[in-house]
Amino acid sequence: MGVMLYAVRPAVLAQLDSAPRLKLMAAVLKRFFLGVWASVAVILATGLHLYGAGAMAASQARKIVLAAGGTPSAGLLPLGWNLMMGIGFLMMLLFIHIYVAGFRKMDKALGAGDNPAAAAALAKMHPFVVANFALGLLAVAAVKLLK
Ligand code: HEM
Repeated sequence: MGVMLYAVRPAVLAQLDSAPRLKLMAAVLKRFFLGVWASVAVILATGLHLYGAGAMAASQARKIVLAAGGTPSAGLLPLGWNLMMGIGFLMMLLFIHIYVAGFRKMDKALGAGDNPAAAAALAKMHPFVVANFALGLLAVAAVKLLK
């Protein structure tokens, strides 16, 4: 989806003048954000379930290791898991900001026929979308590399 937006946005910016461009962007983003809300729900449900199961297994292992006189650092969850989850929560907060302070404002302005305000709201979304894209890559790197 990130690559799709990367491909669509500059082409749309280059080819359409203001009013139709804003309407097209609003329609594309509406569908795109539905997908993001669904992804957030799936990531929260599956991620928290996995994390909870991992935390329980780790604490059982910790008890056994400690009872056998092992090292107290045993049975802790990998740093990468915690980083991934923290980054995931941050991405969700950024997305809520993009949706409320960007998309909803843009949609309202378009409804009121205020194209400059809609364009300003759209432009404000962009850096947050780029930040979320980069954070997503960081989350994957963290969970894959930090065991
Ligand atoms: C609150 C949000 C999240 C929670 C609670 C969560 C939780 C988890 C857990 C517990 C695992 C299993 C780890 C393992 O078996 O090693 C996992 C795997 C994974 N997660 Fe997340 N996750 C979250 C968000 C994310 C995000 C935002 C991304 C990337 C954009 C991501 C990418 C991955 C990947 C690639 C794996 C597979 C790791 C592997 O196969 O080694 N997760 N997640």
